[in-house]
Amino acid sequence: MATPLYLDHNATAPLGPGVLQSMLPFLEQQHFNPSGDYGPALEVRAAIEGARREMANLVGAAPRQIAFTSGGTESTHAAFHYALDVESPQDRAVVVSAVEHSATKGAAKAWQGRGFEVCSLDVNTSGQVAKETLERVLADKRPTLVSTILANNETGVIQHIHGWAELIHAAGAHWHVDAVQAPGKLALDAPALGADWISFSGHKFGAPKGIGALFTRKDSSSPSWLVGGGQEHGKRGGTENVAGIIGLGRAAKNALEQVQDRAGLIELAHSRDELEAHILEGVPGSRVHGSQSPRVPNTTQLFLPGCPSEILLPLLEAKGVLASAGSACDATHHAPSEVLMAMGCTPEEAACSLRISLPFHFDPEARTQAACAIVEAANLLAVHNPQ
Ligand SMILES: Cc1ncc(COP(=O)(O)O)c(C=O)c1O
Repeated sequence: MATPLYLDHNATAPLGPGVLQSMLPFLEQQHFNPSGDYGPALEVRAAIEGARREMANLVGAAPRQIAFTSGGTESTHAAFHYALDVESPQDRAVVVSAVEHSATKGAAKAWQGRGFEVCSLDVNTSGQVAKETLERVLADKRPTLVSTILANNETGVIQHIHGWAELIHAAGAHWHVDAVQAPGKLALDAPALGADWISFSGHKFGAPKGIGALFTRKDSSSPSWLVGGGQEHGKRGGTENVAGIIGLGRAAKNALEQVQDRAGLIELAHSRDELEAHILEGVPGSRVHGSQSPRVPNTTQLFLPGCPSEILLPLLEAKGVLASAGSACDATHHAPSEVLMAMGCTPEEAACSLRISLPFHFDPEARTQAACAIVEAANLLAVHNPQ
């Protein structure tokens, strides 16, 4: 059977060019503990610092502002820890947008269990938080932490968050941004954004799974997130995932080249738009979620009437196309997407939605194959499930 067409890059991306090669020496000959005092260990430490510079470069940060973690979920939980550990929960609120990934919702829930009030920031039908909504919640709740996603993993919708740092800081709150879906798709200047912490995950941009990074604007007075041997400049104890860090460094270099390739990003958005147009024309009543908002160029999520994703996805797989309903982390629950319902979809509409997330290079032949498979499968299903 031919290799399936993998269109689920927001769930996880394959290793990028040169990433595995950069990691191999650190799994073989250069196996030394980077905390060692002998030459070969110091070389490993130097390689880690090189990877830190690459990650910092990708987001315009200073290397000391980057700490390595095990991924996006850990980075987010670490940010919540830094913001909230020194606070008393008395009358303090945590505000998260209604379209957050489960990593952020989970962190908020954990702190709710410790006495913090958790409030939601509503989005409009285009998936964006209006500035006025933020201003109102800041005034009403006087939160201690606001956490917002930059590019949504399901719809690809990009929040208009420039200028929010001033508002949030003026209200006396900290700000965490989940930028897990940004690298390689969206240029990001972390210091200019003004967020206190920004979370990243390597496996979304060509590094292996189990490695991520946390940008910190300035050191907090909270004790280390993981207390141990003082690694990561005291921010995260535990012997480093050396090969993962080296792979992340290489993937960050690739991601920077990708976001600097303006023509490549425009081409990718064009390819996504063509795919959407083909599906919208072929599937009566279909529509694109968040189409009125700016979106990352590789992502589309479509409502396909009469096509519950748990039936559509296996049909597509049989036709050689691997896609998803929405967030991979929520897929096991088979519940309709909370992100789409926050944008005003009914549970039925949310359940009949398909996310397609493309690689950076998506050739026209693959696009036609994907569009034809989706149109055929959706029309077949719609006959059996008339709306
Ligand atoms: C927007 C977003 N945030 C956080 C995460 C969690 O990242 P990780 O899988 O590295 O823990 C993901 C992964 O799906 C994501 O898409």
